[in-house]
Amino acid sequence: MAVAGKRKKVYIETFGCIQNKADSERIRAFYWNKGYEQMPDWKEADVVIINSCIVRQSAENRAYGLINNIDKYRKATNKKIKIVLTGCLVGLAGEKIIEKLPPVEILPITKISYQIKPLRDKKQAALIPISSGCDNFCSYCIVPYARGRERSRKKEEILAEVDRAIESGFSEVILIGQNVNSYGKGRFTDLLESVAKKDLEKISFVSSNPWDFSDKLIGKIAKYKNVDRLIHLPLQSGDDEILKKMNRPYTAKKYLRLVEKIRSKVDGVRFSTDILIGFPGESRKAFGNTVKLCKRVGFELAYLNKYSPRKGTVSAKLYADDVPWKEKQRRWRRLNELINKKLS
Ligand code: 5AD
Ligand code: SF4
Repeated sequence: MAVAGKRKKVYIETFGCIQNKADSERIRAFYWNKGYEQMPDWKEADVVIINSCIVRQSAENRAYGLINNIDKYRKATNKKIKIVLTGCLVGLAGEKIIEKLPPVEILPITKISYQIKPLRDKKQAALIPISSGCDNFCSYCIVPYARGRERSRKKEEILAEVDRAIESGFSEVILIGQNVNSYGKGRFTDLLESVAKKDLEKISFVSSNPWDFSDKLIGKIAKYKNVDRLIHLPLQSGDDEILKKMNRPYTAKKYLRLVEKIRSKVDGVRFSTDILIGFPGESRKAFGNTVKLCKRVGFELAYLNKYSPRKGTVSAKLYADDVPWKEKQRRWRRLNELINKKLS
């Protein structure tokens, strides 16, 4: 076993969602076990891990930018920095993308097994992945191609991980997956209940989708007061035609009805959401419907994402990216002012 001080040095850069953040905590442990310690700056590292995201072109570009910067630096200084690429970019394109990059090594994220005990960020809730991948195929989304079909972890394995987090001092956990409420083919409610019975102050879960939010689940949330009262429920759009083109199986009315039902059963519940701005064909009127619905729900927080066509997805194949960038910006500002401004 390497002694501290003699350890080799690793730096991990994480792009994208909370799932990647959780994966990075296992990557950190994987490298620690191989004798590496984490550095605060990539310039000090022998190995730089890039845990990439491809949900939007901008995230992808940031990974390329970092790879190129490191490559320039190692050429200029003659330092032997190894670049290791992992995350969704690897899952999707593998070899093809790599051919165009400076020399990098590939680490498929599936190599970082759930058996590796994560080195967690102590300042936040413990991130507990419960599933990975997605079967929904929203027409704009690359995730089902990059991460593959939904695979649920075994309940016992998840509960053991929660126990370990509690033992090491965590009082809050976040159960994570692309679509948590389809966990284990309808067994999310059972899982949530088992976790809620443990000695925890707060249990959150992300993301859930409106179509899988059962009455049974609402009942359990109401029953266990340590389940987070801030529920993240991605809306994406409040316009029925756009929702249909997005392949999201609900209408604005159904979404609102679900929110009202949850409100009537769970005291003090609040909502946060994801909205996709400027999906192809989103007219001013269609965007107006999103604004209207947002007003009616009264979201506490919204992650506002400007549409970016992703190669290989249905929407990129079928529709032109026809909402101009400036208009996407304007719509972003409108929603940001409506929902998020009150935060600051
Ligand atoms: N362009 C922009 N945002 C996207 N998202 C998913 N795919 C795209 C895309 N092609 C957003 C959605 C999703 C979040 C994780 O990322 O809003 O909820
Ligand atoms: Fe993408 Fe839709 Fe799956 Fe979320 S539910 S990961 S937006 S395909």
